[in-house]
Amino acid sequence: MLDNFDIPDLLIQNMKAARHVAVLTGAGISAESGVPTFREAQTGLWARYSPEELATPQAFQRNPQLVWEWYAWRRELVSRAEPNLGHVALAELAGLVPQFTLITQNVDGLHQRAGSPNVICLHGNIQETKCFAREHVLDNWPESEAVPPTCPTCGSLLRPNVVWFGENLPAAALQTAVAAAESCDVFLTIGTSALVQPAASLPLRAVERGATLVEVNPQATPLTRFADFALAGAAGEVLPVLVSRLKG
Ligand code: OAD
Repeated sequence: MLDNFDIPDLLIQNMKAARHVAVLTGAGISAESGVPTFREAQTGLWARYSPEELATPQAFQRNPQLVWEWYAWRRELVSRAEPNLGHVALAELAGLVPQFTLITQNVDGLHQRAGSPNVICLHGNIQETKCFAREHVLDNWPESEAVPPTCPTCGSLLRPNVVWFGENLPAAALQTAVAAAESCDVFLTIGTSALVQPAASLPLRAVERGATLVEVNPQATPLTRFADFALAGAAGEVLPVLVSRLKG
């Protein structure tokens, strides 16, 4: 039951005293919106496919049609999904603390659709497309039968504007995320297995600088032992309670 989720008073006091709260989210926050996570044993995206087959530049060069169609399927799924109570609570949290930074590894755009401002997207945006050769970013392209379609400017194949394994994260986004981790008083890590770098190192940077670390995840992760508060529940249940306690 929502109201039964027990949030320690000390955490509420820390958050009320914080000048800057930073948050890192992963696929788990969108699970309650029906968007599959990656590493869940039976249902995760990587349980059915390997990242090397679908989420690397080499995979795209080997089989661009397969990769395009897989992302087209995910794009469609995400378009039909709605933000859940966890996304909504984080949008509200932004207005409850003096400074707030929301960093996400998700490419689904659900934080933005829930009303969160200035979301730092470390892994790109699945709704955007860019071309493989020159990285021209497009929001539409001429109708054609070709799969994938090609860039109207340079003719190279189109791909999703997401970060693949072996690629660099967008530099400005990473820089802002690191600066937030290093300057926040409280860092919340929500719905991430904390296995993919460099995102997974952000909470530890915050800890090194003396921030309070809070984890929201029904499962333990490599970060759990560093967390001052490990809230073992679903984001859509824990975060609304956290926000309502902060308002109280
Ligand atoms: P993962 O699938 O690795 O981890 C999802 C985490 O969410 C797990 O730790 C779950 O226990 C947790 N979880 C599940 N349901 C939850 C809920 N309702 N509330 C809170 N937590 C829940 O996803 P990420 O950590 O986001 O990168 O994966 C990181 C990156 O690896 C992704 O951005 C993607 C992937 O490969 C790229 O594609 C480059």
